[in-house]
Amino acid sequence: MKFLLVGGGAREHALGLALTKTPDVKLFVVSKHKNPGLAAIAKQYLVADETNVDAVVKFAQKNKVEWAVVGPEAPLAVGLSDRLRQSGIHACSPTKAAAEIETSKRYMRELLAKHKISGNVRSVAYDSAAAAKAALAKDGIDVALKPVGLTGGKGVRVFGDHFTDLAGASQYVDEVFAQRIGGEGILIEERLEGEEFTVQCFTDGRTVIPTVAVQDHKRLLAGDEGPNTGGMGSYSQADGLLPFLPKKVFEEAVSIVRRIVLALGTEGRTYVGPIYGQFMLTKDGPKVIEVNARFGDPEAMNVLALLQTPYADVAIRMSEHRLGGTAPRFDSLATVVKYVVPEGYGTKPATGVEIKVNAAKVRSHGAEVYFANVEEKAKGRYACGTSRAIAVLGRGETVHQANDHCEAGLAEVKGERIFVRHDIGTATLLDRRVKHMRAVLGGK
Ligand code: AMP
Ligand code: GLY
Repeated sequence: MKFLLVGGGAREHALGLALTKTPDVKLFVVSKHKNPGLAAIAKQYLVADETNVDAVVKFAQKNKVEWAVVGPEAPLAVGLSDRLRQSGIHACSPTKAAAEIETSKRYMRELLAKHKISGNVRSVAYDSAAAAKAALAKDGIDVALKPVGLTGGKGVRVFGDHFTDLAGASQYVDEVFAQRIGGEGILIEERLEGEEFTVQCFTDGRTVIPTVAVQDHKRLLAGDEGPNTGGMGSYSQADGLLPFLPKKVFEEAVSIVRRIVLALGTEGRTYVGPIYGQFMLTKDGPKVIEVNARFGDPEAMNVLALLQTPYADVAIRMSEHRLGGTAPRFDSLATVVKYVVPEGYGTKPATGVEIKVNAAKVRSHGAEVYFANVEEKAKGRYACGTSRAIAVLGRGETVHQANDHCEAGLAEVKGERIFVRHDIGTATLLDRRVKHMRAVLGGK
């Protein structure tokens, strides 16, 4: 069975490992940078721009691949799944039209409103800086400012965190339009308060199967300080919930994702592949922050490390619209993932940073290493790029134990000028989340 895998981050390394659990899967990888973890398991590797649809399709055809798994959003946004399907390759990822649920935050809000799906947030899209600034001046600045299109998770600015007055808010609006950040205007959204969580599901367009709830940590620094990043780490509990997330709310969130999938179907945009709901639990219940047309990074690792069923089976069943029937099986364990990044990541990343990793030793601690933006210099020696370098995942009966395993694994990653958010998965941070949630609910 020949699988094309597009993307070269830690999420894709985890996907590659999950796919090659099936002994007769042969992997053909395309990514911008050569991922050493994927290079070790790939039959062929093409280093190319993942959005160069012609090059990707040609590589897939030349190697006669049958199935395709696309990790990141950028190739979905330019219609890679559609082109693969036109070439007779079964894409286990959404079409360009279905992926609009991620690529246009405006479309996402409008779909929820049209289909009366709960969890929507007051949100108005503006096509000009003048109109957006006038609205801020008139209605106030207690809002979130969100570029409509893709920004790699780094485009949102929130009152209190990123700006505190009209001048600051207006300046960001000007920047978004002047620099065409996200490319399609800006949304002004009601600011929500609460705790965030991620719900990732598998779907074939009809059946929607949830995986464990995960909490990501977008802010760069310990204690949730500093700028937003792609995600510094994440954790999940053995029971599939989170310390502040009751079962009832999790199920409500899953039902929102299910309704989104069904709504896309009725709009003629049948959705196939993993789908990601980012929620905030507020005093008024779970609210949709964003929907992604893919696994999250790092959240993919939390889920794929627990998946017992080979991902090749799940992917094929999604693409063939036969996900119903035997449900995929998962280990009932907790997970903690932390990213190692070069110092200055998120603002001004240091260059020429080197790390040494002894993967076998990492594994001896009950942990796993996933490579991201690193180049292999020699066995066990890697040069970091400017984004997230490697992720270490620990598993355990409890988050506490999973965190111990993750930290023991991280101790086998040696290097100067590297940075890790060690507070992720600690009892102190988990307690803080529970207390914050209690305060938001006002003792409810
Ligand atoms: P996004 O790129 O949409 O995931 O947003 C990035 C981060 O901005 C989220 O993880 C939230 O922490 C924050 N955010 C987004 N939308 C809102 C909102 N309406 N209210 C408060 N915070 C938000
Ligand atoms: N971790 C957030 C994302 O993948 O969008």
